[in-house]
Amino acid sequence: MDKVAIVTGSSSGIGFETSLALARKGYYTFATMRDIKKGDKILDIAKKENLGIEVLELDVNNESSIKKAIEQITSKKNRIDILVNNAGYFLVGCLEDLSIGELKDQFETNFFGVVRTIQAVLPIMRKQNSGVIVNISSVAGRIGFPVTPGYISSKFALEGLSESMRYELIPFGIKTIIIEPGVVKTNLFATLKKTTKSNSPYKDMTEKVLNGLLMMSEMGTPPQEVANTIVKAVSSDNPLPRYPVGNDAIMFLEAKKNKTDLEFENYIKKELFS
Ligand SMILES: NC(=O)c1ccc[n+]([C@@H]2O[C@H](COP(=O)([O-])OP(=O)(O)OC[C@H]3O[C@@H](n4cnc5c(N)ncnc54)[C@H](OP(=O)(O)O)[C@@H]3O)[C@@H](O)[C@H]2O)c1
Repeated sequence: MDKVAIVTGSSSGIGFETSLALARKGYYTFATMRDIKKGDKILDIAKKENLGIEVLELDVNNESSIKKAIEQITSKKNRIDILVNNAGYFLVGCLEDLSIGELKDQFETNFFGVVRTIQAVLPIMRKQNSGVIVNISSVAGRIGFPVTPGYISSKFALEGLSESMRYELIPFGIKTIIIEPGVVKTNLFATLKKTTKSNSPYKDMTEKVLNGLLMMSEMGTPPQEVANTIVKAVSSDNPLPRYPVGNDAIMFLEAKKNKTDLEFENYIKKELFS
């Protein structure tokens, strides 16, 4: 029987590479995306390499879209072994510049989108008494950072959710894994949503930090490295709760662990503003 994986947000970046990596490892993979017209590239590769990949429409903001996709998957394969919650976007702007609507939209996709998808998949995994849920958080889920408080908060929320649900799902044989990449070279930065009011007192700070992030993104970790870490994690009998990916993520998380809150804040200020 095929082992079945679902990946959200597979049209590009980490989701695209993870769908391919899981299929290359032998999982029958549903590469889901909100616009299936973006699925041609992955289907071409699948055909050339003879991989078990299907493209399916799934918008994590839309409950009926999730329900429909999961029904299609179960009626075809009757099981789900791995769910990778990857879909997300990057909201940029200092808190005072952000509207409540923009913050809610960010949570709608990055947090509630994950919740919706997990809730749709859990009854199937519980019935199987097995399954692995992989939540793509970020080093931004562990470390506060100026100019991206909406994104950071959505990933902090995802970390809290993941850490809590882990306990609830262990008795049902379901594992939860958090992936924490640093800066990865993907479309996330080209498609970011940015808000700065024209008379914003945060304009200079926003530009400075954003330019730094854009420069870092050019030298970011390749998305294939994140995908390989996910494959390694889901292949393990006893996966760790968290997997940081990239030297930058490891460096920041080590610094956070080894410094007091104030020492860490000074370290980040020096990294960003000096
Ligand atoms: N790049 C980084 O530095 C980095 C670092 C840490 C964590 N991450 C996380 O990694 C994940 C993937 O991002 P990426 O870096 O690979 O960026 P990406 O290339 O922009 O991919 C984001 C994916 O999410 C999809 N998406 C957005 N909203 C969606 C929705 N409502 N329903 C379904 N799919 C939706 C996008 O689809 P469309 O093509 O339709 O827009 C795209 O496929 C995100 O959760 C991000 O926060 C990224």
